[in-house]
Amino acid sequence: MPANKRIAILPGDGIGIDVTREAVKVLEVLREKHDLPFEINHFDYGAERYLKDDTTMPEAQVEDFRNNYDAVYIGALGDPRVPDMAHARDILLGLRFKLDLFVNYRPVKLTDVNLCPLKNKSEEDIDFVVFRENTEGLYVGMGGIFKKGTPDEIATQEDVNTRKGVERIIRYAFEYAKEKGRTKVTMSDKSNALRFGHDLWQRVFAEVGAEYPEIEKEHFYVDALTMQMIKRPEQFEVIVTCNMFGDIVTDLGAQLQGGLGLAASGNINPNGTSMFEPVHGSAPKYAGKNIANPLAAILTLGLMLDYLGYPQHNLSIEHAVQQAIKTKNATKDLGGELGTVQVGDYICNNVV
Ligand code: NAD
Ligand code: IPM
Ligand code: MN
Repeated sequence: MPANKRIAILPGDGIGIDVTREAVKVLEVLREKHDLPFEINHFDYGAERYLKDDTTMPEAQVEDFRNNYDAVYIGALGDPRVPDMAHARDILLGLRFKLDLFVNYRPVKLTDVNLCPLKNKSEEDIDFVVFRENTEGLYVGMGGIFKKGTPDEIATQEDVNTRKGVERIIRYAFEYAKEKGRTKVTMSDKSNALRFGHDLWQRVFAEVGAEYPEIEKEHFYVDALTMQMIKRPEQFEVIVTCNMFGDIVTDLGAQLQGGLGLAASGNINPNGTSMFEPVHGSAPKYAGKNIANPLAAILTLGLMLDYLGYPQHNLSIEHAVQQAIKTKNATKDLGGELGTVQVGDYICNNVV
């Protein structure tokens, strides 16, 4: 009997709550069916808790996740009652930073040609992964506001790029390419304008890339990258980029594969607790209405199971999701007529 895997569930806000419930249903079904040694614990951090007692993410809880959990599964955060996203900064970004989840792994894979908004593109044409640096860049929160509310107001937001941080995400992308038999890594920056931070990206990409002579190296400025992702997505295999650009290009990538309702994501620390969340947000206008597509959340569960050492259950989930799409057992955004719960039920009945 393998050692227990401990999994923390944080439902998130808005549709995060709706879709996480379905992903957990699938997790429970698989655990039951295969007698998986999972301990699943539920936590209530999110907007509701924050509004009730001001709690965001206690330090002791971060320690507990770090020391006692294999994975955290989290629904999207964001609630109109917390307009400054104060809770999400501590919970989502806080966990990314404090658990050192430096790899944001976001696969982009078209599973049904009818879902692609581009003309004449097949499933083979849209199949790449984005590695987004997840602990630095514009996200670190360094900066400030001076003379707030006056005509002389100054706001600064520092873009932090460290040698260690840039090197480890670029190396991770090359190692992934090598392991998966991918032949090219594309790095995207804006070094023509951002002279210092992205000069570092250029130099580190060349240095680390030289250690992988068998893998082709390619570079696009991020504006050109977005254009190429639409024009010729088939050229991409592995893309590596900074935190901010990775956020933007993965929403674009999501559309290439059928929308945010299908885009999965993992925040990985290769040596510690990792965290899994879909790419999409909390879409407040759809919250609690049995409308949101739970497949991104369910595919994200698959990424977590893969990470925990159960790739066969990830494949089973992927297969069930493909079936759901092909047979239109899907929500409106994919041309189906089912609700969130019914799509969750379909996957529960079709995973093996
Ligand atoms: P969003 O991703 O929540 O929604 C944008 C649109 O995408 C929706 O209106 C909807 O049309 C579609 N969509 C997204 N997920 C869907 C799903 N599962 N099924 C069907 N349609 C779906 O982005 P937004 O409107 O910019 O942000 C809403 C809130 O979510 C904000 O507070 C934002 O900060 C937050 N957010 C959180 C995360 C996260 O926690 N991981 C990610 C992105 C945005
Ligand atoms: C994402 C989200 C987050 C990000 C927000 C909610 C802070 O958009 O996970 O893509 O920008 O990283
Ligand atoms: Mn985003």
